[in-house]
Amino acid sequence: VNGQAVPDLYDSIPYTDHAYAEAHPDRLAVVAALAGWSAPGITQARVLEVGCGRGGNLLPMASQLPEATLVGVDRSSRQIEYAREVARAAGLRNVTFLSDSFEDAALAESSFDFVIAHGVWSWVAPATRRELVRRIARWLAPGGVAYVSFNVLPGWYARAPSRDWLRFATARLGERPEGARASLEWLRGCVSHELGAYRHGLDDVARRLAETDSAYVVHEHLADEHHPETVEVFLAEAGAAGLAYLGDAIPQTTALELLGGQAASRAEGLAPNDVQQLVDFVRSTAFRRTLLVREDERARRGWRWPARLDVGAFGSMRVASRLKPAGGTAKPDAKVEVFEGAGLSVQVTDVGARAALHDLARAAPKALRVPPETAHELFDLWLATCAIDPHVHEPPLAAAPSGRPVACPVARWHAAHGGPVTNLWHHEVVLVDEPVRALLAALDGTRTAAELAGSLGSYVRAGLRLLADSALILG
Ligand SMILES: C[S@@+](CC[C@H](N)C(=O)[O-])C[C@H]1O[C@@H](n2cnc3c(N)ncnc32)[C@H](O)[C@@H]1O
Repeated sequence: VNGQAVPDLYDSIPYTDHAYAEAHPDRLAVVAALAGWSAPGITQARVLEVGCGRGGNLLPMASQLPEATLVGVDRSSRQIEYAREVARAAGLRNVTFLSDSFEDAALAESSFDFVIAHGVWSWVAPATRRELVRRIARWLAPGGVAYVSFNVLPGWYARAPSRDWLRFATARLGERPEGARASLEWLRGCVSHELGAYRHGLDDVARRLAETDSAYVVHEHLADEHHPETVEVFLAEAGAAGLAYLGDAIPQTTALELLGGQAASRAEGLAPNDVQQLVDFVRSTAFRRTLLVREDERARRGWRWPARLDVGAFGSMRVASRLKPAGGTAKPDAKVEVFEGAGLSVQVTDVGARAALHDLARAAPKALRVPPETAHELFDLWLATCAIDPHVHEPPLAAAPSGRPVACPVARWHAAHGGPVTNLWHHEVVLVDEPVRALLAALDGTRTAAELAGSLGSYVRAGLRLLADSALILG
């Protein structure tokens, strides 16, 4: 503007770090296999993340996959500087961060096995998002898999009034992003009970804001560029760029198996893109994580999108479970057993599946091969609950700490400097307990448990000083 650079909103207000298990190459390869598409190997994968922000997703991935080569591109130089600092501190040599617009990034054609763009497509102007999918198609290796997430209609229609209100309230009423949740609750309180759907939509967004921060409010609700579209529009633009639909990174959100009889049978005869559009009308989908492959390679392989997931492929994977038997030990004579975890309580009747869940609970957090005789039952459990996770790749995690425990260097960095901690399965772990964060930060493999207890002693002394200074101590 007038010869001056336009300030980048992400330089002024960086996006919060997040890791997305569903955007990990392991998950992309799992979904590909369930759709009959053989994806490249994970261990030495070449991974590109477009719009990588501060590297919250790519940095833990680089640490989990030391033989892989990872590249992150983002226009915001401040965020890229931060990502580079974490990579340096964590000693990661396999990840490179480029401070560039993806429109200008000079990357070799067909050079990435996995290309990830989380939270970018809906949040740029329409011409830019079309260039995004063209770039993805150009950079993706022939058999590679791309992941693109975006806000989608019709589900997002219900959230649009919240965004419009927040933009009005900040532009015209002097409200601040930090007060967005209270602002929505105020508006909801003014709305007649007769407008139930409208109130529900406002509530829904206010609840989401309670789990997020003002950076999210700014970029999701206040930014000028934000364009939810139907999946039909997305897939048409991806198709024009030479990309074809493969599946969804969380298959439970689109699986015909879960759609209900009438809708599922109506979907059966439709073309893949129309099936997805029908699914979104039935489910009122608001957010999608779509996986794509190159159309030229699809045609060469003669691959067609299968409407149903392949249970046989599931049976050849490894599974990690977040479920534990609620009653402790197994009671083989009981008709039903309850397993708990991942915020769920699950009743399991099948004897084989129960035995497998006990084995998985004992092995956790490691994964085990799916026992062939229970593949169908575990597949159904996975589809219904998401509480067990199929994998084609297992990180080198230890079930118990060694004499000189060592933790993932990126998790150690986040434990010391703030931000979400990501585990070796690429799940975020909520660690609110300061002493536990301090312990994690100290696990660099140089100290025994006894030495760690000593160094945490200094943490206790500093804590006592702070509590005394804060006038909380009686004696
Ligand atoms: C909503 S944030 C998502 C960040 C991260 N992928 C996540 O989901 O946690 C969008 C990111 O895309 C980046 N971005 C937007 N337009 C871009 C462009 N044309 N080239 C490169 N990066 C861009 C922004 O700087 C920002 O970091």
